[in-house]
Amino acid sequence: MRINTHLADMNKAYLFAEIAARVAEYSKEQPPHEIIRLGIGDVTLPLTPHVAKAFSDAALSMGTPEGFRGYPPYEGYDFLLDAIIRNDYAPLGVTIGRDEVFVSDGAKSDTGNIQELLSADARIAVTDPVYPVYVDSNAMVGRLGKRTATGYERLVTLPCTAENGFAPDLPEDAPDALYLCSPNNPTGMALTRKQLGHIVNWARAHGTLIVFDAAYKAYITDPDVPHSIFEIEGARECAVECCSFSKNAGFTGVRCAYTVIPRELTATADGRTIRLGDLWRRRSESRSNGVSYPVQCAAAASLDDIGRAEINALVSHYLANACIILDGLKQAGLTCYGGVNSPYVWLKTPDGMSSWDFFDMLLRKAQVVGTPGAGFGAAGEGYFRLTAFNSEENTRRAVERIISTI
Ligand code: MLT
Repeated sequence: MRINTHLADMNKAYLFAEIAARVAEYSKEQPPHEIIRLGIGDVTLPLTPHVAKAFSDAALSMGTPEGFRGYPPYEGYDFLLDAIIRNDYAPLGVTIGRDEVFVSDGAKSDTGNIQELLSADARIAVTDPVYPVYVDSNAMVGRLGKRTATGYERLVTLPCTAENGFAPDLPEDAPDALYLCSPNNPTGMALTRKQLGHIVNWARAHGTLIVFDAAYKAYITDPDVPHSIFEIEGARECAVECCSFSKNAGFTGVRCAYTVIPRELTATADGRTIRLGDLWRRRSESRSNGVSYPVQCAAAASLDDIGRAEINALVSHYLANACIILDGLKQAGLTCYGGVNSPYVWLKTPDGMSSWDFFDMLLRKAQVVGTPGAGFGAAGEGYFRLTAFNSEENTRRAVERIISTI
């Protein structure tokens, strides 16, 4: 048997699995301590009543002869596609067709799978620090070559640090694809209309695909930050957009997301013009049987008037927590970013500590879990991420504990 050595050569574990293992190890050593988890971006508030009711009504209807449904449509039920178009795009003045929306089980899967549309030797660029899924999914199939001390030999990394205002400097030698996340995971910083416009123009000029991860768009408070890349002129020719119900409607456990691939997004190969949406459809139909009916009913409920009001309250709760973290840590003298258009606060570790040392110190001395910046890439070294996805009480306690530790 010959196995995939690219997979075998990867780092030991997925970042959040590695953190979970370290925390579990510590908990065994130190059982009496109560740990506050501001590490993985997992929501803590329950599904809202309207969404939970739609979910359970649909599940119960599946137990009746008239309500039973078998395989869902591959790309999603029309009722959900229409709700997405009506609620997430029409208010922005963005027109999207039903055939351009593809429902799936997660933005993690979609951003991980989208690389299957690219050639085996396509050149990939990511911002650094970066959500590890974009890199891992390309590394696993061998597209990035060998692992190096700071990344992969064929990976183009565009540092986003305080020095460049967390917006990437774009290379002249353009890659085939650039992964962009705004509001950004992990830095919590968001690209303005002007910054995104600049990147879209560059991508069009170079024939680069932008994989735009908009999983955190519900957290945007600044009117100058676009909610969709398709608000930017020309983006329909160069971008796909991945969105999620996880961080707004609390679907991290339910699983539902969607990706928009515009009709204008094409590539030429062997003298043919090929739509990327057709490739994605072809790929998804072979790989998946879609998302279950109850889950899609729950997702659609989160987009109607009652659902939206409930979900805005969830997002406001997490944004208020982000503010508690940001204000508390800034007052304590730490340099912090993000947290305004995002549930993530990105801080500079004190006294130049390495991000894993800071992780260990907070875990052992404050019993607070965060995510070391180095886990998101070389440019994340010296930074640390905290999430706002906990209760207000735990958030306040975590901030107090951190302050008394640093
Ligand atoms: C995060 O915390 O960055 C994400 O929620 C983790 C993930 O999706 O794997």
